[in-house]
Amino acid sequence: MKLNNKKILLTGASGGIGRELAAALDAAGARICLAGRNEQKLMALKDSLPHASRHFCLAVDLTQDDDLERLNQAGLQYQKEGQGFDIVINNAGANQFACLTDRSMQSVRDELNLNLTAPVLVSKLACGWLNRPGIILNIGSTFGGIGYPGYSVYCAAKSGVYRFSEALDRELYGSGVRALYIAPRATETSLNSPEVQAMNQDLKNQSDSPQLVAKMVVDSLEQERAVRWIGWPEKLFVRVNQILPGVVAGSIQKQHAKIMSYLKK
Ligand SMILES: NC(=O)c1ccc[n+]([C@@H]2O[C@H](COP(=O)([O-])OP(=O)(O)OC[C@H]3O[C@@H](n4cnc5c(N)ncnc54)[C@H](OP(=O)(O)O)[C@@H]3O)[C@@H](O)[C@H]2O)c1
Repeated sequence: MKLNNKKILLTGASGGIGRELAAALDAAGARICLAGRNEQKLMALKDSLPHASRHFCLAVDLTQDDDLERLNQAGLQYQKEGQGFDIVINNAGANQFACLTDRSMQSVRDELNLNLTAPVLVSKLACGWLNRPGIILNIGSTFGGIGYPGYSVYCAAKSGVYRFSEALDRELYGSGVRALYIAPRATETSLNSPEVQAMNQDLKNQSDSPQLVAKMVVDSLEQERAVRWIGWPEKLFVRVNQILPGVVAGSIQKQHAKIMSYLKK
């Protein structure tokens, strides 16, 4: 889909990837609804964009039903006015690097809520007001394709989003709406704690800039790529993990002691 003049809902707009994505979409000529919980951060981001007057902000907590209903009403209203959304990017996310046994019940629920339930519900609502042709793009993670110690809850959520996107894209075949999935590997944002960054360096796990991820997201939208795994060799590991999970398990076992040492920090 050509992005010029398209109206795009971008969740997690104020985050590391979200900000770069907002800049890339602004450069492509899109009109963006910048969504996040903190209105001041969103306003500052909007004002920093070269075509600020094209964009607007929506302060919503995606884990709250009332806020999802406000988002839904906004989507319906724009549709009624002939100014409906063409694209929804489910980008908001958060994670905690911790052993499952060390986590509270509430933190597990919150993480599943934001990373899995919210994109599913926003997609459901968007099907009611997206323009045709329209696109729902879900931001996943390499951890949606590979189970990794310390990230069991995040892996559960992101692999859920992966299968959800696949199933929805197939369900919506012929309807004019696509459901796409793109999975970054480690990206240099504050999502990753200093311990995680140190572990990635220690294990020689490569990471990408949020600018690169934003570029890939724009490309996925323009090419309407159903699924994209970012980063080499991670994209190969995702495939090997599907066919020969024992091989990937073996290489993660070799890292186990190191990973555990960072989990205990
Ligand atoms: N960074 C990585 O290594 C990496 C790798 C693979 C995939 N990803 C995925 O990429 C996406 C963006 O990550 P990022 O690195 O940009 O993270 P980030 O810098 O921590 O930004 C997270 C964004 O989500 C928003 N958010 C958090 N909780 C929310 C809630 N309850 N309701 C609404 N918005 C909420 C935050 O805004 P407010 O706090 O202002 O609400 C912020 O804009 C996520 O889906 C993440 O899982 C990241």
